[in-house]
Amino acid sequence: MWDSTLRSIGDEPSPIGEEEYYARQRRLFSQLRPGDLLIVTAPHESTRSNDVHYPYRTSSEMLYLCGWEDPEAVFVAFNSGEDWVTSLFVQPKDVLMEIWEGRRPGVDGAKNGWPVDEAYSHKELDERLARMLIQSKRVFVKLGVDSDVDKLVDYEIKSNSRERQKLGIGPVSIVDPSRMINELRLRKSDAEIALMRHSAKIASQAHIQAMANTRPGVGEWQLEGIIEGVFKYCKTSGIAYPSIIGSGENATILHYTVNNDTCNDGEVILIDAGCEYKGYASDITRSWPVNGKFSEAQAEIYDIVLKSQLAAIDACRVGNPYDAPHQAARRVLAEGLIDLGVITQSLDEALESNGELNKWYMHNTGHWLGIDVHDVGVYRPDGEPRLFEEGMVITVEPGLYFGAWRPDVECPERYSNIGIRIEDDVLITSSGPDVLSSDCPKTIANIEAIVGSA
Ligand code: GLY
Ligand code: MN
Ligand code: MN
Repeated sequence: MWDSTLRSIGDEPSPIGEEEYYARQRRLFSQLRPGDLLIVTAPHESTRSNDVHYPYRTSSEMLYLCGWEDPEAVFVAFNSGEDWVTSLFVQPKDVLMEIWEGRRPGVDGAKNGWPVDEAYSHKELDERLARMLIQSKRVFVKLGVDSDVDKLVDYEIKSNSRERQKLGIGPVSIVDPSRMINELRLRKSDAEIALMRHSAKIASQAHIQAMANTRPGVGEWQLEGIIEGVFKYCKTSGIAYPSIIGSGENATILHYTVNNDTCNDGEVILIDAGCEYKGYASDITRSWPVNGKFSEAQAEIYDIVLKSQLAAIDACRVGNPYDAPHQAARRVLAEGLIDLGVITQSLDEALESNGELNKWYMHNTGHWLGIDVHDVGVYRPDGEPRLFEEGMVITVEPGLYFGAWRPDVECPERYSNIGIRIEDDVLITSSGPDVLSSDCPKTIANIEAIVGSA
C-alpha cells in the first residue's frame, strides 16, 4: 500500500551491536570502583483491565546497557575486586506461558544472545542479589522503578547492619546511577545516529501521507490512523509519544491528544507525531491548511515560525550553549509579531520573561532526543548552560499559538485559532547542524503541493 514510502526510507540500519553495548558498559564501569554493585531495573508490567496489560516498554537504561526488551528483567553488574561481571535476570522458559503470550529467549537465550556474562531466572534474583549486596560497598540503583528490588536493597542494608559492624562488609550507601548513564546517553554514536535518522525518515513519510490525505471533513482520528499506520507499516514499535493531531482551535493546545474532531475548511491542522524505531525516537511537527492553501493570515504566521526555526537550527553548532536556538527563535518570532503589529512592545520588552511574546509562544524551543523523546541529560550542569558537542541531538520546535478560546489574552481576530509549530530533529556535527528529519517538507510551496493530493 505504501511501497513508495518504504522505498523512500531506504534500507534498515543495523541494530546496536554487541560491541557497542560492551563499550557502553565499560564506560560506565570506568566511573565505578571495586566493591560497587550496579542494579539496572525496569518497571513491572502494568494492568489495563482484568487480564489485559498495557503494551510493555522496558526502561531506557535497560535498553541502553543491554538491549533486553522483555518484562521482569534486572541487569546487575558487580565488581568484587577482580573484574566486572554482568548478569541478566530474565523470565525463564515456560511452555504454558509461551503458548499463551509468546516465545521467550529464556536463560540460555539471554546468555548466548545478549551482551552479558551470566544469565539467571528472575526467580533466583532474591538469593543471588542478596549475596552480592552483602559483599558490596556502594549500591548504584534507581529506586522507585522495581519495588521488589527496592525491598531487597532496603532489607539487606538494614538486616546486615550487625554483620557489617562486626566484619565491615555490606552496602553502606545507595547511589542513583542515572546521572552517569544519562551523561553517556547524551552523546550519540554513529550506530545510534543511523537509527535516529531512520526513525525520522519514517516519521517524515508519515507526515507526508497525513498531508496528502488532508481535506475538509477528514477526522483528526483518521489522520492519526494514517500516521500510526505508516509507523507500523515501516516496522517501528509504534509511537514515541501520543500523537498530537489538532485542527482549528485544537492546534493551539500544545499537547492536544484527544484527536476526535473533524478538520474543517479554513482551519490549520498541527500534527506532532514521531515513532520509536529500534528504541530510538523521532519527534516531528508540521502545520498545514486543511484545504491545501494557506490563507494570507495563516501564511504570515507560518513565515515567521519557519524563519525562526531556520535561525534556531543555524544556532545548533558545536560550542554554542544549548539554549542558543531558543534565544534565536524567540528573537525572530518577536520581530515578526512586532512587524505584524501583534506585539506593541519594543523588541527588548517583548523578549523579557513577562514580555508580550510569551502570550503566543509559551514553551521552550527544544529538548534532547534519543531513546526517550524528552531524552536525558542535564541542560545546565553546575548551573551553566551546556555547550553543544558533536553527537548530541536536539529538537528545534518554535511555534505561535493564537487560541481565540483563551480567556487570559485578547487574540487578534485576524489570527484567530491559528496554531503553527514546526519541529525538526537536529544532530550537532563539526560541520554544522544536520537535520535528521529533512525529508519532511516545510516550505509553503512544498506543503501546498502535497496537501490533499492523495
Ligand atoms: N512531542 C512532544 C514535544 O515535542 O516535546
Ligand atoms: Mn519535541
Ligand atoms: Mn513534538
